[in-house]
Formats: sequence, structure tokens, C-alpha cells
Amino acid sequence: MDQKGFDINTLLSQGAKLRGAGSTTLSTPWGASSDRSDLIDLRVGMPDRETLPSAAFSKHISKILESGNAKALEYEYGSGDPDLKSILCDPSNGFTDHLSTTDQFSFYNGSSGCMEAFCATFVDKGDVVLVEGPSFPGTVRAILRSEGLIVEIGSDLDGASIEEIEEAYLDAVQKGRHIKAFYTIPDFHNPLGRTMSLSRRREIFEFCQDRGILILEDTTYSSLYFESPPPSSIYSISSGVGVLQMGTFSKTIATGLRLGWLHGDANFIEALHKTRSDLGNVPFIQNAVTQFILSGEYGEHITAMRLLYGNKCRNLCNSLDENCGDYIEYQVPAGGFYLWLRILGIDAADLVKQAWEDGLVFPDGNLFFQDPVENDNCIRLAFSGTPKDKLLEVGPILRRSFEKILD
Ligand SMILES: Cc1ncc(COP(=O)(O)O)c(C=O)c1O
Repeated sequence: MDQKGFDINTLLSQGAKLRGAGSTTLSTPWGASSDRSDLIDLRVGMPDRETLPSAAFSKHISKILESGNAKALEYEYGSGDPDLKSILCDPSNGFTDHLSTTDQFSFYNGSSGCMEAFCATFVDKGDVVLVEGPSFPGTVRAILRSEGLIVEIGSDLDGASIEEIEEAYLDAVQKGRHIKAFYTIPDFHNPLGRTMSLSRRREIFEFCQDRGILILEDTTYSSLYFESPPPSSIYSISSGVGVLQMGTFSKTIATGLRLGWLHGDANFIEALHKTRSDLGNVPFIQNAVTQFILSGEYGEHITAMRLLYGNKCRNLCNSLDENCGDYIEYQVPAGGFYLWLRILGIDAADLVKQAWEDGLVFPDGNLFFQDPVENDNCIRLAFSGTPKDKLLEVGPILRRSFEKILD
């Protein structure tokens, strides 16, 4: 069709422009795509392909569709599978650590959908959302779409800095701005890999509670611990007051399910429901996930995943320690999909380029900051999707890249 007369830049919303639409920069800043089969790809945190429970889902989905229940293929208007909500409510099933009721859950298109729903419901132009810097870029994009202002909060080994939250709070008060939430990933953070200590969770909860700052707790990786579960969630510390939790089956089962949930006070869940315009999630996917959990298959799967990702992380760390010990600093994560490395002696950006030539692809840490100046010369390695043995090759390749740059 002739597009003459249709200038996309005059049509784009401000929010879309803020998210980069209409600009000439790449929409996915994860490095060029490539058909180079030799590349070890550590860009994206995805479940291991070999472990996707295709056979179990094929069985459950077939049964659901063969049952002839038309509801499986109809709009569900966001009401959500009641059986799945009942499962999520019960702490013994491991999806929350606080007893809740079914009206405290609502399903969305992954955790990303939860964030979009949160912003559409609560964030106005100029509202402040506090976000750990660095953080998951999808969250940043959702806030920008609502024209919210992001204030990045730095962290130490215990988690997000109370001092920086306080600074941001005082600054917002002085400027007459409303802080709508503090978004945090306390367990096995993306990209830092860190877990917030119990004492920091309590301090942050108390600080935010006293000042009316809602906490948005992203539990995307919480079930993916290698040995021991993370400390109590901020949600459970708060007994559900002033905290909204987001969860997803993307990393524990499969990203393609596009099924996540918001968990919180029933009034908040209802308000979020009322702003919804997508007519709900896919009912047969919700049913299939329910069956996968009720059959016991999920329990076996998640136990195996914890072991697998723990082994992958160990292989990667061993390979790095043996080959690159003088060139990097990092903390070993206790769960999740990521290793965050500080690069010593050379520029992380140069390492990203050289490693690509040498057969390794991963993102520069800059991509996880709103303000790249805050970056401390880091890179992120996602180990979840790469075969265990391949991870042993990472250290030697990276060492060669370091040596070439330093030569
Ligand atoms: C912290 C965090 N939250 C949310 C998401 C998005 O997950 P989903 O696939 O459920 O939208 C990701 C994906 O990488 C993530 O790392």
C-alpha cells in the first residue's frame, strides 16, 4: 500500500517515541543476530531448550481440547482459571510464601504483561517509579511507555540502597512528584544475580510503608534457587500490605506460555482488572499449566531445573576462575540465570566486540541501566540456555579475547 502522506513520526505516541519507535536504532539492543553456528550465545535468559516439557504439554492440551469444553477456546475476560489461582494461593505449592485468597491473583501475559498492566493502571506522565540500576530492561520500557520518570537506585551486596531510596524520596517530595512504586527483583536479580538479604527486605519494607511507597516485587526467578530458597518475600514480610508481587511461568516452565500473575490486595487486583482491555489470557494454557502442576510433573521439573542451572552456573564459574581470574570480579549467584562480571583493565564494550569475533556473544552491562554512566564496566552472561559442557569453553575463549585486546 502507498504510505505517502502517512508520516509515522507524526502518528507515534510520546510513549512510543520514548521507547525508541521511529528512531533508526535497533529495537533489540542485544547485538546483531547471526547464523554463525560456532557462536556460544549468552545473551538471553531462557530455559534450557532440551528441558521444555513439550510431551507433557502436548498430552494436557490435547486432553483439554478433546474434552469438548468450549470455554477452553473462548474469551475468559481476565477471570483466570480458579484451580490455578487456588494452587497459587497455597504456600505449600511454592509459588508464594504467604497464604492468600483467589481474589488476590490475576493472570497476565507473563511478568511483562503484569508490568504493563501496573503502569497502565497506576503510572501517569511525570510519576516517579524507583527501579534498581541495573534492572530488567522490559520494566524500564513499560514505565517509559506510560511516560513515568525512572529513578535508578544503586545496590550493595545486601540489595537496594536505603540511602538512595531516601534521597529519591526527598527529591520527589521537593519537586512535588508522586512516587508510584519501587520496583525490585529481590531474588537472583536480573542482571546482578544477587539476592536481597532478609534485613534489607525488612528495612526497605518499613521505609516504603512509612512513606506510602508501594513495592512492586518481581519474583520471576524466586523458585529457581540452586540449593536453598531465598529469604522471606517482601510480600510476606508486609503481610500483603503495600506490596504487589509479580510472578511468571516463563523461566520455570517455558517463556512461550506467556502466563504470569499479579498477587496483592484484592482492591488493587480489582482496579487492575477494570483497566484491562485484552479480554484475558489463553484459557487452555492456564488449564494445561494447572494439570501440569496437579499431576506432580511440575514438582519434578522444577527440582530438576534447580539442579541443572546450579550445575551450569558452577561450570561457567569454574571455567572463568581457571582462565580469567585476573581479569574479572563477580559474586556467585545462589539461583537464577545470570552472572554479572566486572571487567578489569579493559573496556567492557571492547570485550563484547572482541568476544563476538572469537565466538562468544553477550550484552554489555550498559544495556541494563537507564543511565549508562552509572555502569561499572560490566557484562552479563546468561548461562541458562547454553549446554552445560559448552559453558566450560567460555573461560578459554574469553581469556583469548582479553589477551588480544591487551596485546
Ligand atoms: C526480572 C524479570 N522480570 C520479568 C521478565 C519477563 O518475563 P515474562 O516472560 O514473564 O514476561 C524477565 C525476563 O527476562 C525478567 O528477567
